[in-house]
Amino acid sequence: MAGMTDQFNAKTTADEVLKGIDLAGRRYIVTGGASGIGLATAEALTRAGADVTVATRRPAGDQKALDLSDLDSVRAFVDGWDGPVHGIVANGGVMAIPERQTAKNGWELQLATNFLGHFALITGLHDNLRAARGARVVVVSSGIQVKGPFDFDDPQFERHPYDPWEAYRNSKVAGSLLAVGIARRWAGDGIVANTADPGYVATNIQRHLDEDTLRGFGMVDADGKPADVLPEFFSTAEEAAATTVLLAAHPLPAEVNGRYYIYCQEAEHVPGGPDATSGVAGWSLDPAAADRLWALAESAL
Ligand SMILES: NC(=O)c1ccc[n+]([C@@H]2O[C@H](COP(=O)([O-])OP(=O)(O)OC[C@H]3O[C@@H](n4cnc5c(N)ncnc54)[C@H](OP(=O)(O)O)[C@@H]3O)[C@@H](O)[C@H]2O)c1
Repeated sequence: MAGMTDQFNAKTTADEVLKGIDLAGRRYIVTGGASGIGLATAEALTRAGADVTVATRRPAGDQKALDLSDLDSVRAFVDGWDGPVHGIVANGGVMAIPERQTAKNGWELQLATNFLGHFALITGLHDNLRAARGARVVVVSSGIQVKGPFDFDDPQFERHPYDPWEAYRNSKVAGSLLAVGIARRWAGDGIVANTADPGYVATNIQRHLDEDTLRGFGMVDADGKPADVLPEFFSTAEEAAATTVLLAAHPLPAEVNGRYYIYCQEAEHVPGGPDATSGVAGWSLDPAAADRLWALAESAL
């Protein structure tokens, strides 16, 4: 997408994207904003003057309690929200939980946390987003979406063996489809929704990975100790948050709605498949899949 974002790239930080932008009077919710990329996002939005609510399952100080995997908790958060919300950053998440676990409602835990909780939060706050007249929703997805489509046949792993990465991938394709679904439904309400892919960042999200996998990513050395220098393809949290705040708060052309961005640029559209390593796959932006997933999520609320 040529134009307003041309000056930004993989090394741009969230503060650099927000330079000169005054967010005073604008209210944002950042899920999972207590650590990692979410923390960098919340801090940058706050420095730009926004009123940021950090929603986290272990709140400290003035943070707000929100357990994305628990629909009662999401409902309580929504009921406790008053007035407009100018931006929701759907960033909280878990990755590659080794054994299949389920949320209280029976959904597989990664899908429940990364996708369904955010669906409930965002749809629960639809009126509040509309009231902001120009609200933004940013869903934080992952490059893993390029590896395969959402599994509508058995998304809860009830009939085929659980795989930690397949479950994570499902949840992240679902995230991108959530942005597409919002863009399809709520453009008339002045609400814009896009997906941010943060690239690779060393954070708590890798907590479930075994040593071999961490070594494969170059995050630990031969002895299993944290690497002194991370491989070039890693970003800092402040760089990863740049794409998020670009979509949450920077001026964007009107047609940037339901799009997928990485490194502050729109991702290349690719066919996708198990060997694909970059770009956004067609199935992550497919309107029919977005509608099917929306119906599936609505039936769970
Ligand atoms: N790091 C990467 O390389 C990478 C790559 C692609 C995509 N992403 C995505 O980026 C986002 C941020 O991840 P991160 O890397 O910054 O990791 P992180 O530091 O672990 O942040 C994830 C946040 O989500 C919160 N969270 C987890 N389960 C939750 C729940 N049930 N309810 C509410 N909050 C919950 C975590 O809180 P707790 O501290 O309580 O667990 C944590 O604050 C995630 O959506 C992740 O999938 C990251």
